[in-house]
Amino acid sequence: MIKAGILTASDKGYAGQRIDKSGKVIADMLEGIDAKVVEYVIVPDEREVIGSNLKRMADELEVDLVLTTGGTGFSPRDVTPEATLDVIHRQVPGIPEAMRQKSLEITPRAMLSRAVAGIRNKTLIVNLPGSPKGVKECLEVILPVLPHAVEILKGNSGDCAR
Ligand code: MTE
Repeated sequence: MIKAGILTASDKGYAGQRIDKSGKVIADMLEGIDAKVVEYVIVPDEREVIGSNLKRMADELEVDLVLTTGGTGFSPRDVTPEATLDVIHRQVPGIPEAMRQKSLEITPRAMLSRAVAGIRNKTLIVNLPGSPKGVKECLEVILPVLPHAVEILKGNSGDCAR
């Protein structure tokens, strides 16, 4: 069982001016890999707030996986990748590379995503885009690999050979 957290970075969502459909898409899709969502927060697009919530989920709640949505684009308030880089210890470039590669087959705008992924202690943190469509298209790509990623992080799988 994967212990997961969801963080939605959205000024409008935080202010109650927009329903967070993307967080719901993540929660629904995580059911497909038998993950349990133990924490779900909507925070404003503030680097410090995003970072402290990521740390709290990793260090206090000890979740295996945090999926973020929103704040990966070009607007001045889009700071989710910076907040993620503030708190991770090791980057995992292959995850955003794979998401962008597949997404580029759908829309050239995928190249505008600045999403990053990385590891803080035993927690994998992955940025997803803000739109429900973008979340679905990106999460579809990485979902099959997440259980193995978490197993390695937990130290339960010493061997990647098949
Ligand atoms: N990736 C996929 N698969 N599908 C999309 O529709 N939208 C792109 C990109 N990645 C998109 C996508 C767009 S338009 C932007 S601006 C960036 O993600 C960043 O989105 P965000 O600022 O909402 O996080």
